[in-house]
Amino acid sequence: IGTSIICLKETESTNQVAFRMAEEGAAEGTVVIADAQSAGKGRLGRIWLSPPGVNLYCSVVLRPAIAPMAACQLTFLSVVAVARTIESCTALTPQIKWPNDILINGKKVAGLLNEMNAETEKVNFVVLGIGVNLNLDMSSISESLLRHPATSLLEQGGAEVDRLAFTRALLVELDRLYDVFLREGEGPVRAEWLERSAIKGRNVKVSQGEREFVGMVQGVDSFGALLVQLSDGKVETVLSGDVALI
Ligand code: BTN
Repeated sequence: IGTSIICLKETESTNQVAFRMAEEGAAEGTVVIADAQSAGKGRLGRIWLSPPGVNLYCSVVLRPAIAPMAACQLTFLSVVAVARTIESCTALTPQIKWPNDILINGKKVAGLLNEMNAETEKVNFVVLGIGVNLNLDMSSISESLLRHPATSLLEQGGAEVDRLAFTRALLVELDRLYDVFLREGEGPVRAEWLERSAIKGRNVKVSQGEREFVGMVQGVDSFGALLVQLSDGKVETVLSGDVALI
């Protein structure tokens, strides 16, 4: 990962650029980084605020020989890589919130968006999109633009984070984790995800559009779905939705 790194001053979305490059044959491990995004993409069609100079916006092209169903396992990789990097570059302790949010003191500091190009049987490529609020001055952001409480490493740690050092450390972690994933499957990375998420055994409220229910988290399955045990003992497999600790 990172043998080829494309750095852009401004683009609509690094995911979009990486996706287009992958369609045109970009090699596995190609990384696209931008200083600013004019149309940063978040999950569920939301926008990702991407002002210049202060944060990390990057996308990585991977071409694993896996089935499309298994591609969601790659989310574990980027989540764990970002969590490890925050720990190594700051004195902060990140928490993981299913499926792919990274929080510090309950506020979102990073977001991940994977996009895939696949055929019925096999994945052609996956783009791992990673956004981390590094040195964002939170007072410059209007609360009304945020769906969830957000923060930055600067706000939480009180010190500027070196963007280049953070990016380098993140790519090294991703490379290590991807290597483990290819050699040993998703097991080890999922285990670290679960340990860090501190969600196992906790009671949660799951919201899926109109539907809401509460239950106790048993874990995540190998496809990244959350397993929630209801009061009648039945286990729900949650593939999408919002989950809040209660
Ligand atoms: C989320 O909604 O939590 C996911 C946010 C993902 C943002 C990153 S920033 C780099 C990459 N390019 C994009 O347009 N989105 C992802």
